[in-house]
Amino acid sequence: MGLSIIILAAGQGTRMCSDLPKVLQRLAGKPLLAHVLSCSREVAADDICVVYGYGGEAVKEAVTAPDVRWVLQEEQLGTGHAVQQAMPETPDENRVLILAGDVPLLMATTIARMITQTPVDEMAVLTVDLDDPAGYGRIVRKDGKVRCIVEQRDADNEQQKISEINTGVILCPADKLKAWLDNLRNDNEQGEYYLTDVIAMAVASNVEVHGIKADTWAEVMGINDKKQLAEAERALQARLVDELMQQGVGFADPARVDIRGTLKCGKDVFVDVNAVFEGDVELGDGTKIESNNLIRDSKLGARTVVHSNCHIEGATTGVECEIGPFARLRPGVVLADKVKVGNFVEIKKTTVGDGSKINHLSYIGDAEIGAGVNVGAGTITCNYDGKDKHKTKIGDGAFIGSGVELVAPVEIGAGATIGAGSTITKSAPDEQLTLERARQTSIKGWKKPGKEGTS
Ligand code: UD1
Ligand code: CA
Repeated sequence: MGLSIIILAAGQGTRMCSDLPKVLQRLAGKPLLAHVLSCSREVAADDICVVYGYGGEAVKEAVTAPDVRWVLQEEQLGTGHAVQQAMPETPDENRVLILAGDVPLLMATTIARMITQTPVDEMAVLTVDLDDPAGYGRIVRKDGKVRCIVEQRDADNEQQKISEINTGVILCPADKLKAWLDNLRNDNEQGEYYLTDVIAMAVASNVEVHGIKADTWAEVMGINDKKQLAEAERALQARLVDELMQQGVGFADPARVDIRGTLKCGKDVFVDVNAVFEGDVELGDGTKIESNNLIRDSKLGARTVVHSNCHIEGATTGVECEIGPFARLRPGVVLADKVKVGNFVEIKKTTVGDGSKINHLSYIGDAEIGAGVNVGAGTITCNYDGKDKHKTKIGDGAFIGSGVELVAPVEIGAGATIGAGSTITKSAPDEQLTLERARQTSIKGWKKPGKEGTS
């Protein structure tokens, strides 16, 4: 029997107090909906359908999902109405798994458990017990069996005391679901067509409804406001860091690291506090990330050390590089092995050869730097003429003195030495000392400018 997944994502999410549709609020750097989609893709389904509405096309565009069937719910008349929009294209013989776009931490293993524990012609609801169930639909049982779900606003005093709640994850045979949805009414407190009303209809038709409990609350928490969003962020971060620790990655404090994307680590990697990883980051064996670093879409070679307070984006390093403290690597930086980039150095779109050093206070952009080069403190590549960017090439073994301006396009030969303070506008030959300075003079009898009448 086939499986169709329907993800409900049409609601506005008023409680977020935001212009962004709720399912596009970000968790670990990705929209909530993207998390639900990745979980859905781990389940072997014939069809993944997303019901969208509030936010319109923006929702589609924010999650690139060519494998998804998008169904528009023009007016958001409730969760039951939302599912109904997706039913005409859903094969009668399939089972339907309904997921909520605002329940992002659900795991595919839990869905698999629901599917195997539920006979194909019966129904299941994923539930969880809460100390404070306020706001959620309550699972009403009789003799242990699920009878119906009552929404918070429609629940009487006794029902409000029930601690078992509906997570919104529901499994049901498609043909039966279609029939029940057609009979939904909106005569409730919110005037909406509640999906949860089909539970009582199933029971009335003698279809068993299995209340299957989730292992943890974190996995099934629904995100309705910014506080819950922050709670989910912490829960997800804990899960990601746990996985990495199991693979042997060391964290000074697992609660003080953030992973917003994919972090792949080799052996014996150590990460100090307040490191933020975004996009796709790879850390080679034995790399060490000191405190307060942002590393985005970068690949660091084995035993590379990133000292405190660096901002690294779109960079690649070889083995045993040393970066920072206070360095900025921008997109297109490729460091070979054993390269040192020190404090207050900004580098963009530049390749640096083995063992070269740029240790202090420099801006290097659009450059090709050979191996064994020493770039002195305060060196600047003047790569931009106001209109175009130009290249600087520095040959192997060159020594650039402190405070040098290299006005691109310009080429410094292999083994060349550039005297400190030079403004180099023409290419400098190999192995020679090239200097460009005004002659130093001292003026005898010169007087400091003083206030009128004081000298
Ligand atoms: C819903 C459940 C409640 C459950 C809770 C779990 C119903 C009636 N209530 O309540 O029992 O405890 O989830 O988190 O189902 N949506 C649409 N179209 C609509 C309305 C909603 O697509 O017309 C989507 C929303 O975008 C959201 C999901 O359905 O992703 C749930 O809607 P929401 O309004 O958040 O329902 P809750 O009040 O949380
Ligand atoms: Ca919700």
